[in-house]
Parts: sequence; C-alpha cells; structure tokens
Amino acid sequence: MRTPLIAGNWKMHKTLAEARALVGGIRAGVEGVSAVDVLVCPPFQLLLPMAKEVAGTRIMLGAQNVHEEPKGAFTGEVSVPMLADVGCTHVIVGHSERRHVFGEDGQRLARKVRAVVDAGLTAVYCVGETLDEREAGRTHQVVEDQLSDAISAEIPANKLVVAYEPVWAIGTGKTATPGQAQDVHAFIRPKLADVYGRDTTDALRILYGGSVKPGNAADLAAQPDVDGALVGGACLVAGDFLAIISAAASVGAAT
Ligand code: 13P
Repeated sequence: MRTPLIAGNWKMHKTLAEARALVGGIRAGVEGVSAVDVLVCPPFQLLLPMAKEVAGTRIMLGAQNVHEEPKGAFTGEVSVPMLADVGCTHVIVGHSERRHVFGEDGQRLARKVRAVVDAGLTAVYCVGETLDEREAGRTHQVVEDQLSDAISAEIPANKLVVAYEPVWAIGTGKTATPGQAQDVHAFIRPKLADVYGRDTTDALRILYGGSVKPGNAADLAAQPDVDGALVGGACLVAGDFLAIISAAASVGAAT
C-alpha cells in the first residue's frame, strides 16, 4: 500500500507575506487529514522562512531545482547541502520547464538526482512527453529514455519519487484523462521494477502532474498506479490544494 503524496510546485510565485498566508491555510487544513503525505516546494528565497512555518507539522519542504556540485564558483546556483541545511527533504529534478526552458539534458539531470540522493534527500524526478512526441506515438519511448537517463540501481528506491508530467498538460488546463495517466504510470512501474525488482517497486510512488485541480483530482487518484499529484497552479490557493489532498485521502481510504 502506497501512501499518496500531494506535492505543490509553487514555481516562481509568492512573496514572503503571500507565502505565509498560503502555508498558514494549508497547515490549518491538513491537520484533520491523515494517510496522505504533503510536500510544498516554494522558490529558493522562501525556503528558510517556510521551513519555520512547517516545523512541527506534517508538511514537508522541497526545492524546485538544485545544482549538482556541493559548492563552488557557480553564480546563481544552490547546492544540495545548502537545501538540506534549511530543512528541505525533497528536490524536484528534471521538471519540464528545467528541461525545455533551461535546456537541462539527461546527463545533467542524472548528476542532479545522484547529488540529491547521495546527500540523503529524496529526488522527485519528472518525466513526460511533449504534444508532438505524443502525437507521433513516442510517449512510452520518451518516458523510458528519460527514466534510463537518471535512474539506476545506484539511486536508492526509498529516496526516489517519479512524477509523470506530460508537457502538453502543464499549465494548459488540459489534463491527461485518468486513462492516459494510468497508461503511462502502468508503463513506468515495470521499467522501475527492471532496476529495483518488483517488491521494491511496489512501494515506489509515481505522481501525476499537469493541470491537476480539485475537480479532477479524485478520478486521477483512483487510478491504481497514480500515487498522488505534483500540482502547479492549484497549489497556490490553499483551498484548492487542500481539496486535492482530501480527494487523495478519500480515495486512499476507500481502497
Ligand atoms: P499545473 O498544475 O499548473 O499544470 O503545473 C503542473 C506542474 O508543472 C507541476 O510541477
């Protein structure tokens, strides 16, 4: 049985005051919800103050990106030890915006995943096809290639979460149907089993991301291989994020 994980990727949003209000709302709402893990991933400048806001609650803190080296002359970058130092337990790696807007390739992402898990943090490794790739029937191949770029037996399975985020569904309001999401998740799980074996992989969480909203969260969460969500736009409003968390909780409770 996998505990669902609902993760909020804030992207480049929120000032300090806005962030405090958002986390305050989430904190109040998650108290009554059990059996769902909750993660917030604010931008870098908010990590330290948000670490204080979530201390002593069940809300975990993650970063949206990281540099693969522990320190050095890398202007504008932040390292894994720095993230651990402020209380992050998770780091998103390979988000489609990092791949497509910032040109991060598979080799780079492999080094990032490695750096994250070597420091004892959990990597939330994102994969997903573009619309052109889907229309060309290449979804499975693209996802398989992205997995094999960065996932090997050297990456401990208990420090890994995979997020399937079809690029065409991100920020577009065009969610993958539950069937489309399940199809790719059910493709990913045996690929991970090739690396880790079946039993270990049964415990590994595969999140869906791409226009997850309160209205579609329960249907997505009901899919057998969908183990939670990586939420963008809807995580910026406490009530919406909480509704997605509750949807995952009620599906978990019903199974
Ligand atoms: P949206 O939920 O805004 O589509 O963003 C998804 C995403 O990119 C989460 O990482």
